[in-house]
Amino acid sequence: MGPRQSHSGWRSPRFARDDGGEWKGHNRGFEETSALSMPNAKIYIAGHRGMVGSAILRRLWAQGVASTQLLTATHAELDLTQQRAVNSFFAKHRPTEVYLAAAKVGGIHANNTYPADFIYDNLMMQANVIQAAFAHGVQKLLFLGSSCIYPRMAAQPMSEDALLTGPLEPTNEPYAIAKIAGIKLCESYNRQYGASHGVDYRSVMPTNLYGPGDNYHPENSHVLPALIRRFHEARSQGLAEVKVWGTGTPRREFLYVDDMAAACVHVMNLPLSVYQQHTQPMLSHINVGCAEDVTIANVAQTIAKVVGYSGRIVFDSSKPDGTPRKHMDSKRLNSLGWHPKVSLEKGLALAYQDFLAQLNA
Ligand SMILES: NC(=O)c1ccc[n+]([C@@H]2O[C@H](COP(=O)([O-])OP(=O)(O)OC[C@H]3O[C@@H](n4cnc5c(N)ncnc54)[C@H](OP(=O)(O)O)[C@@H]3O)[C@@H](O)[C@H]2O)c1
Repeated sequence: MGPRQSHSGWRSPRFARDDGGEWKGHNRGFEETSALSMPNAKIYIAGHRGMVGSAILRRLWAQGVASTQLLTATHAELDLTQQRAVNSFFAKHRPTEVYLAAAKVGGIHANNTYPADFIYDNLMMQANVIQAAFAHGVQKLLFLGSSCIYPRMAAQPMSEDALLTGPLEPTNEPYAIAKIAGIKLCESYNRQYGASHGVDYRSVMPTNLYGPGDNYHPENSHVLPALIRRFHEARSQGLAEVKVWGTGTPRREFLYVDDMAAACVHVMNLPLSVYQQHTQPMLSHINVGCAEDVTIANVAQTIAKVVGYSGRIVFDSSKPDGTPRKHMDSKRLNSLGWHPKVSLEKGLALAYQDFLAQLNA
């Protein structure tokens, strides 16, 4: 089994799932208060085997949500691009809340190579899930987007109101357009059915994420997991140097995925009046980022330290740097009471453990 297929570590052996997609078992007995916004909620996590979806599942367990209140289906069990199948699933299981963390996700190479898949699959999945949720009376839904929704030349740090103010980065434009459509789907259902049906669909836009369940594929992964793999291989092969693309000076931001999951549950459970005070009907998404961004050089040095690589790090300035800085403005979410907890060094150590576990699985 390759690294991407293994999502070891997230599924507790104390939990078994019946054929119907509902979780059977006992609470884990964590001390935190319940994450349920409604005591009788049945929570569907779309994409629960992905990096973010599995972290949301961990978070809900940790906050004491009963396993019988959690609903999941693997991609093989339910292809979310298939409208009829999605409707049948909602009709059968009747979730009351949805975390929409299923998506087709990848780095620059994958986005450039499969642009049709990235726009079609993501548009279909989110349209099917959001429409089925509405049709079956789901009042609470959280949609996950991405920082790539913002214009390529957006002022830094990027605040929510930078949306639709300029051209997007061409390499992932199809994916970004799908994500923007997801935000607008949520807003449109709220505007049309909020008052009449109590529909309350929210969106969060995470910065770059990393952590357990990440994709370490040599070509199709994001920068941070790709560097973890590269440094690990360099150490294993005793290489004297590791080449990192660009000058090392661009600044990026990386959020540990369990912090992201905490943000998702936090936003989902904010009282509607509070959410509405901090958003607008047609500008309703919320950024999820860190307080600080770091240089690529700093990230490479921290990864080398965590991995135990003591060779040289060489920055190949003949390769493009990309945007000098990409940083989310997370003031909106901070003012709503959420802050990240896991430092980059601690998060990278946990991510490296996960990489090794996936490698050995
Ligand atoms: N990773 C990041 O750095 C990052 C940053 C910003 C935003 N986000 C957002 O966070 C969300 C989750 O990302 P992630 O990193 O957790 O991605 P991921 O690890 O690739 O997980 C995505 C999940 O969606 C499932 N899925 C894909 N196509 C499906 C389909 N047609 N039907 C049913 N399930 C399907 C996948 O199942 P299979 O693997 O079986 O196909 C997988 O479980 C996405 O909306 C993404 O845009 C991620």
